[in-house]
Amino acid sequence: MSQIIDGKKISQEIKDELKEKVAKLKEQGTEIALAVIQVGEDPASSVYVRNKKRACEYIGIESVAYEIPETTTQDELLAIIDDCNKNPKINGILVQLPLPDHIDEDTVIKAIAPEKDVDGFHPQSVGAMTIGEPGFLPCTPAGIIQLLKRSGVEIEGKECVIIGRSNIVGKPMALLLLRENGTVTICHSRTKNLKEVAKRADILVAALGRPKFIDESYVKEGAVVIDVGIHRDANNKLCGDVDFDRVAPHTSAITPVPGGVGPMTIAMLMNNCVESAEK
Ligand code: GUN
Repeated sequence: MSQIIDGKKISQEIKDELKEKVAKLKEQGTEIALAVIQVGEDPASSVYVRNKKRACEYIGIESVAYEIPETTTQDELLAIIDDCNKNPKINGILVQLPLPDHIDEDTVIKAIAPEKDVDGFHPQSVGAMTIGEPGFLPCTPAGIIQLLKRSGVEIEGKECVIIGRSNIVGKPMALLLLRENGTVTICHSRTKNLKEVAKRADILVAALGRPKFIDESYVKEGAVVIDVGIHRDANNKLCGDVDFDRVAPHTSAITPVPGGVGPMTIAMLMNNCVESAEK
């Protein structure tokens, strides 16, 4: 029997823990605020931003919204970030990605003060994570570690295979699994014998960005499968990088889409905001 890892439930537990923490911080006179910056009106981004604001409201974090037009220049965006960096009331800054083509993402990420970088994307945060120093961890991979731990999946000594090498998921996922003493392999589009490598995994993380790409031929019997993808299938139904119906019977545990990794990303963002305020 495969265990369905319930990201909705686990993220709710985390949000409830944070809500209590925030109430205590408020009693001590500490208010928390997150700046949420969205450039343009990409529909997927609007959904994410709305969910982040809702989570803030639930936990007791003030969200300061900057919904600015697609035509905003890079300098105008950098000026907003600079204001947020200097504003002592703002604990975290989130610039929703992707940004319009005329704005350079790297420049924008580097403009965020590392002590407010609750997405964990700034090179200083990435460097700190790499060498195990304190700093904000990127939310999706940090959320996956929480999903595994809170579902009783041991990582130490396990073969962990990640498919995908993005800066936001694949690479930091590898570092965080390594930190938990997993034996880690990263696969990508040029990997030879992907199936054979994937089949070695005790813990398989699919973050390649292709709908239902991973079927049972990539999965060892009894593996734990974590699906980072989010897509719409031919019937407009949400699906992941994993073909859930085909893969689930072969796993010991698996995350669904929706309701797996997705809600954890937001919970960990909230966690980073609270950590920022505590500092
Ligand atoms: N776009 C997709 N995922 C993310 C995320 O985790 N943070 C930000 N800022 N933008 C995103």
